[in-house]
Amino acid sequence: MSTTKEAWGSRLGLILAMAGNSVGLGNFLRFPVQAVQNGGGAFLIPYLVCFLLMGIPLLWVEWSMGRLGGRHGHHSSPFILQTLGKRTFWAYIGVFGIFTNIGVAAYYCYIETWTLSYFFHSIKGSFLNLSQNELVLFFDRFINFQTTDFGIPFEAVVFFVMCILLNSFILSKGLKGIETIAKVGMPLLILFGAFLALKSLILGATAASALFPEANAWDGLNYLFTPQYDSIWKPRVWLAAAGQVFFTLSVGMGTIHCYAAYIKPKDDIALNAVSAGFTNEFVEIVLGSLIVVPLAAGYLGLDWVKANIGFGIAFQTMPYLFAQWGTLLAAIAGVLWFGLLFFAGITSSLAMGTPWMSFMRDEYGWNQRKGAYSFGLLTLLLGLPCVLFYHYGVFEEYDYWVGTITLVVFALAEMILFSWVFGLQRGWAEITMGAQIKIPSIYRFIIKYVTPVLLIAVLLGAIFTPVNNDWIEAFSLLSQGYGWEFDSSSLIGQLAQWELRTQIAVSTDQEVVNHVQKELWLRNGARIVLTGLFAFIALLVYKASKKHSQIHEH
Ligand code: PHE
Repeated sequence: MSTTKEAWGSRLGLILAMAGNSVGLGNFLRFPVQAVQNGGGAFLIPYLVCFLLMGIPLLWVEWSMGRLGGRHGHHSSPFILQTLGKRTFWAYIGVFGIFTNIGVAAYYCYIETWTLSYFFHSIKGSFLNLSQNELVLFFDRFINFQTTDFGIPFEAVVFFVMCILLNSFILSKGLKGIETIAKVGMPLLILFGAFLALKSLILGATAASALFPEANAWDGLNYLFTPQYDSIWKPRVWLAAAGQVFFTLSVGMGTIHCYAAYIKPKDDIALNAVSAGFTNEFVEIVLGSLIVVPLAAGYLGLDWVKANIGFGIAFQTMPYLFAQWGTLLAAIAGVLWFGLLFFAGITSSLAMGTPWMSFMRDEYGWNQRKGAYSFGLLTLLLGLPCVLFYHYGVFEEYDYWVGTITLVVFALAEMILFSWVFGLQRGWAEITMGAQIKIPSIYRFIIKYVTPVLLIAVLLGAIFTPVNNDWIEAFSLLSQGYGWEFDSSSLIGQLAQWELRTQIAVSTDQEVVNHVQKELWLRNGARIVLTGLFAFIALLVYKASKKHSQIHEH
């Protein structure tokens, strides 16, 4: 167990670091995509309900578990969970809390790489005279490793390695490094975001061109913010909303446990957790909605946005839109936008490194440097398949299993542990100890019953997603004795890779068949790699537990 008492330097530092952990690419790239794909305003209500009934409770639970673990000298989820649950079984559940972070970092750092690269291209002016189509081609060249304006071969790979080195370097400075980046990065991010948001607010219909005479930035905003109450009957939207809330708050990942383990034993968590959580929501709902969608709607029209939304939009259109503002402002806006994304990304990827580092320090006495660079190495090894085989679904495979499913599984396990094994009585005392706000007591009920039930519903929804996502039809067919037809996007369908197998079966084009065949191989390879990573961490936990029991015996 670690003897060094590392702790956050100040309360502001803690909140900014925690907010930096949550505020990430998810807020600016994932949120707008999810919102548009799920009907704009239709997404709003499920999203807010999930935030209040799952997000907030999970924040309190994870913060308090972390602080409790820290008191016992544990700073990463395996032995934090074991401290609460007493049995070794919980330490193995805690493996998720390290595994998810490394797995997500592997593909997350790749997107972070794009933002870094595009940041420099904006300064250089690479995008200035490109048409919308040429900009799309630029992106394709970039991810296909053809030389772009810098003339660096394999630019994406080179920047990927640089990005990981930078992360490792900052991590090697410990919490102080993270705190410093958060203190600089978060205010800048808000400032940059506010500037871009303001630009899109005043854009209105002024940007409409002959090609898109109907374009109006306000359409984008109205679309996102006009609530549609009938969406509460669409389980698909609920699933998407819950997934987004998890991803954006970084809950169900083990990252928050780790940060919270460095809080002083009696310091408040009730208020800190909501402060960091609401900062994230402000950035997500306000800034995240005000930039990509309205700007693109302002120039290209809302219909175009609905048809083309995807997280590539940030790279494939934004520089083109900025270029309409004139050379100087285009460069400034590009720097602000990609700078903002980079800060959002790095304060999150740094957080992903800490559970591994803390674990290796607590259990194996590794110092910061060794922990940080070994995390870099793991991320690099796991990330390279995503980078090199981006077109073969490796990235998506990681995102689905490690960035989506495991979050819900881990969150459910920890809620059961907290409310039912450890017991809500003690749990509530943990949450409220040192609290600087009074948490409404309805949350006792929510934490004990509502959140776990919702988590189970989300998980079942993901496993049993019926064909075409049509639950009403599926239940009516079931009641008529026709059985249940799964959608290929259901967990079952994903596991069995139905979509790809159907493609192979129906395609007559040999080239397509070969491509899909290769994709199948690579996706399976990705699964093996991820399973290997899980097993490796579990082995480390096993060895550490052995050491613990030997210490006990003596
Ligand atoms: N919450 C971050 C985002 O929205 C992602 C993240 C995942 C951060 C896991 C830390 C750990 O981008």
